[in-house]
Amino acid sequence: MSQQKCIVIFALVCCFAILVALIFSAVDIMGEDEDGLSEKNCENNCRITLVENIPKGLNYSGSALFHLPLFQGWWNLLNMAKKSVDIVSSHWNLNSSSPLARQGRRLLEKLFQLAARDIEIKLVSDVLTADSKVLEDLKLKGAEVTYMNMTAYNRGRLQSSFWIIDKQHVYLGSASLDWRSLGQMKELGVIFYNCSCLVLDIQRIFALYSSLKYKTKVPQSWSKRLYGVYDNQKKLQLQLNGTKSEAFVSNSPKLFCPKNRSFDLDAIYSVIDDAQKFVYIAVTDYLPLISNVNTQRIYWPDLDGKIREALVLRSVKVRLLISFWRNTDPLTFNFVSSLKAICTEIPSCSLKVKFFDLEKESACLSKEQKDNSFPKLNRNKYVVTDREVYIGNFDWVGNDFTQNAGAGLVISQADAGNETSVIKQLKDVFERDWYSPYAQNLQLTKIPNCLSHRPITAAPDKTAAATPNVN
Ligand SMILES: *[C@@H]1O[C@H](CO)[C@@H](O)[C@H](O)[C@H]1NC(C)=O
Ligand SMILES: *[C@@H]1O[C@H](CO)[C@@H](O)[C@H](O)[C@H]1NC(C)=O
Ligand SMILES: *[C@@H]1O[C@H](CO)[C@@H](O)[C@H](O)[C@H]1NC(C)=O
Ligand SMILES: *[C@@H]1O[C@H](CO)[C@@H](O)[C@H](O)[C@H]1NC(C)=O
Ligand SMILES: *[C@@H]1O[C@H](CO)[C@@H](O)[C@H](O)[C@H]1NC(C)=O
Ligand SMILES: *[C@@H]1O[C@H](CO)[C@@H](O)[C@H](O)[C@H]1NC(C)=O
Ligand SMILES: *[C@@H]1O[C@H](CO)[C@@H](O)[C@H](O)[C@H]1NC(C)=O
Repeated sequence: MSQQKCIVIFALVCCFAILVALIFSAVDIMGEDEDGLSEKNCENNCRITLVENIPKGLNYSGSALFHLPLFQGWWNLLNMAKKSVDIVSSHWNLNSSSPLARQGRRLLEKLFQLAARDIEIKLVSDVLTADSKVLEDLKLKGAEVTYMNMTAYNRGRLQSSFWIIDKQHVYLGSASLDWRSLGQMKELGVIFYNCSCLVLDIQRIFALYSSLKYKTKVPQSWSKRLYGVYDNQKKLQLQLNGTKSEAFVSNSPKLFCPKNRSFDLDAIYSVIDDAQKFVYIAVTDYLPLISNVNTQRIYWPDLDGKIREALVLRSVKVRLLISFWRNTDPLTFNFVSSLKAICTEIPSCSLKVKFFDLEKESACLSKEQKDNSFPKLNRNKYVVTDREVYIGNFDWVGNDFTQNAGAGLVISQADAGNETSVIKQLKDVFERDWYSPYAQNLQLTKIPNCLSHRPITAAPDKTAAATPNVN
């Protein structure tokens, strides 16, 4: 009798366990369409606009083109918000006593107002709430803050910077929530309006970050609802201001790429591989090295090698616009010279490199003056070709791609020559900067001696001799 009872109870427990397992797996599959959003009913007839912050005092020629100011773009997005604001940011210093922080403070106040209106605000950060007054205040006002311990996950940092508004509009770009990004930093990003198909995909990166809340390490496998929706093989088909386009988002580090999520590096590879005529690259730093605190630096050939391949094997014209600033590593010049050397005696091989220097005036300030002045810096991070653009959060530095968290976005258009094409517009931005007085073929011998970092000491004479060939 008691044995029978045992068997019955055992059977019941088994049934229950199977039921629970079924429910959970069903939730995992059905969870795909949060808010009823799915590939079938999402909006893919979108508007797109480039946003830029151009520092005060930066002089372009009178006819230079300008895009929507970053502050205005962000402000409009927050004004559109009716339900939700999701923000991933590497910085949270919108407030400062500096008179230049006025716009940052306005954004912060706007966020406070939205929180007070019961709009759901979700923030992802690798800064502890306790270390940021802005985050702390936002949390007090009702924002949900996810802390990502990137040190623990991958010995890296969070560099991702994107927004999702009302599950419809998206910002992605070089600027994070830092008042300086609205001041003396030169930033570039992109805003999509009415584009829930893109949200469907990028929302999953946000969800992946959120899933790490309270976790000290990355799970062995990711839930299905964090898988990529679109990737390089299966791109999102959409209209951008009426132009037929394709797009997908990419993610980093590799550890954060579940099934069908493109890794940033692969996204950039695909953009360079698809180029037929030219590849224009704008980044703050170009350094094909991985530096670790404890170990020696190691060579990181991935993107450096991709450029060589495009130049030598496919005769694609490459232009590289790097920022020249206080922290430019002297080895940058060596790697650039080495890249240039590969074109030796190949007429169809065309590489030009320029350095964008916004600090020229302050180069010879005393140390004290320098510490009190804020650096101006071109922080753009994009690649534009004759067919595609990639806009991301990383510079071309080994550590960024191997350790840090960041996201990117690829857009392709067959009609990339039309004035209404975002690809054409970004190409024009690149050329505006390339031909501006701020972009120079840095001749090492002409770098003022008063610069604290004297590349001459690190770069051998060979380099200096090779430099005039830049043009
Ligand atoms: C910018 O241009 C204006 C007018 O052409 C000039 O007065 C000013 O000195 C320039 N500023 C810089 C930083 O070159
Ligand atoms: C912003 O900073 C100023 C000065 O540091 C401070 O007085 C003010 O309370 C801060 N505002 C917010 C909203 O934190
Ligand atoms: C983040 O992770 C590192 C390494 O595991 C650990 O030392 C540190 O205490 C963690 N920080 C927080 C705030 O949990
Ligand atoms: C987005 O769609 C709504 C409703 O269709 C429309 O009113 C609005 O103007 C659109 N926004 C943009 C920026 O095109
Ligand atoms: C540019 O694109 C717009 C919108 O797609 C189209 O109406 C226009 O005819 C195109 N212009 C050219 C020159 O192809
Ligand atoms: C991932 O992408 C491949 C190729 O595009 C496709 O065959 C596969 O079904 C996708 N897997 C998932 C889980 O979406
Ligand atoms: C797309 O349309 C919007 C609004 O109509 C405009 O502000 C934006 O500049 C256009 N984008 C492109 C790439 O032409």
